[in-house]
Formats: sequence, structure tokens, C-alpha cells
Amino acid sequence: MTLQEQVQESIAYIRKHTKMRPEVGIILGTGLGGLVKEIRKEIVLDYEEVPHFPISTVESHHGKLIFGSLAGRKIVAMQGRFHLYEGYTLQQVTYPVRVMSEKIGLGVNTLLISNAAGGMNPEFHRGDLMIITDHINFQGNNPLIGPNEDYLGPRFPDMSEPYSRELISLADKVSKELRIKVQHGVFVAVQGPNLETRAEYRFLRNIGADAVGMSTVPENIIANHMGMRTFGISIITDECFPDTLEPVSVEEIIKTANKAQPKLTKLMKELVKRI
Ligand code: HPA
Repeated sequence: MTLQEQVQESIAYIRKHTKMRPEVGIILGTGLGGLVKEIRKEIVLDYEEVPHFPISTVESHHGKLIFGSLAGRKIVAMQGRFHLYEGYTLQQVTYPVRVMSEKIGLGVNTLLISNAAGGMNPEFHRGDLMIITDHINFQGNNPLIGPNEDYLGPRFPDMSEPYSRELISLADKVSKELRIKVQHGVFVAVQGPNLETRAEYRFLRNIGADAVGMSTVPENIIANHMGMRTFGISIITDECFPDTLEPVSVEEIIKTANKAQPKLTKLMKELVKRI
């Protein structure tokens, strides 16, 4: 079965439950679950019930596809995402983005992505928000490997502006108005699942990254492949400075993400309103 046929089956199932045409897609990473409460839900589908959707295995993620409105805009949100370290292929990881898309899916042309990330820029602090201005794909893998589906996008997609400058300026404006401090920086995606060694943090900082995480880049690549406008934001959940590195647990990472959640929720809600 081709990707297009799979997506058509997913859409056919979704269409049995809702005829809604969302304009904005949101991938809720660790720490953005709070946004779910702000959504006026029309219908919530479990990933398990949607044909061809992979199933989420990480405890801190719930696999739900939420259709509704946020700040008056029609949205579809992914509560829980898929990661390479869980054993999924990057085609599986990014499948929901194909389903959301305008090209073959639900009609979304703007994708907002959030995640939890380790901060390597010494000016960053635990709990900061970082608007992603650019990224480095260090996963040693790419969701576009394999025959190109020309009807979806080009074989060699341009990546000169992977995160929309327009959305970054809008988020800057909104954060100023709301008096929410935001950092800006380059996000590097690694495979995980282990956190990095001091030597790896030093290396990743030296190659130009400000924050490190295990997601977002594959989804961003697929969104760009299909010409979607993308915005990305990280919660800096731990300080990854090689010379003063302290042990950190996933529990602490989630705790910090939850603490920063209200300001990210506020920012995202206002951003969606003004898109
Ligand atoms: N690496 C280090 N710290 C982190 C990560 C990561 O991938 N994600 C969240 N905090």
C-alpha cells in the first residue's frame, strides 16, 4: 500500500467522526499537555483507532488526536508523539504530519511543534523557553530516505528557512506583549534515548547548537517537504554545561517542563489566535 493510500484510509476514518477542516496543527511535546485543557474539543481520537497510526509507548505521552478550536481557530493537536528511540522508523514518526497536511491530508498549512530540550548555551537557564530559529539533524537518519513522492514535495527540499521567520517574529511580538522571556537558538536532534556525555555536549555546542533533544527535526523536515509553515519551541528542562554537569533524571526533566508549561501555553494560545 502506498503512503497516499494509507493516508486516505486514515482520513476516511477521521472523516467518519468529524468533518472539521483544521488550519493549524500542533504537536504537543513534553510540557505542553496543559494546552489540551485550553482546546474546545470537538472530537478526540486515540492513535490506536486511526488506521496506520503508530502507537505511542512513552509513559509521559498520551496518544490522542484532538480536534477542536483554540483561541477561535480550528486546530488539530497531537497529544503525544513518536520518537526514533522507541524503535519507530522516521516514516512512522512523521506519519501524522502527512495526515495533517494540506497536500494529502486534513488541510493544515501551519504546524507548531514543541519539545523539552537540554540547554547548552551558557546563557540559558532551566525553565527558559527557546524559540527554534534553525536546526541540526544529528539523528543519522532522515524521514525522506527512499523513493521520493513527487506529488508531496521535491526530492531535495530547500531548508534555508525551516522555521518560518514570519511566525518567529509574531511569537517575538506576542512574548513581548505577554512579558514572557524567550531565548532563541539552534536545536540539534539526537537519537537518544540516553542523555549526552559531557564530551557530547561540548561537541554539540561546538558545532553550533544551543539546545538538544530527541524529536521535532523529523516532523519539521516532513512539514518543509510539503511546503508547510513551521514554528518550533523548546522548554529548556536541564542545563547541559559540560564543565558543571550534574546528573538529571527524566522525572526532573518532566517536573521542570510542567513548571514552565503555563507560560508556554499562554504564548502558544496567543500565537494561534494571531496566525
Ligand atoms: N538531552 C539532554 N537533555 C535533555 C534532552 C536531551 O535530549 N531532552 C530534554 N532534556
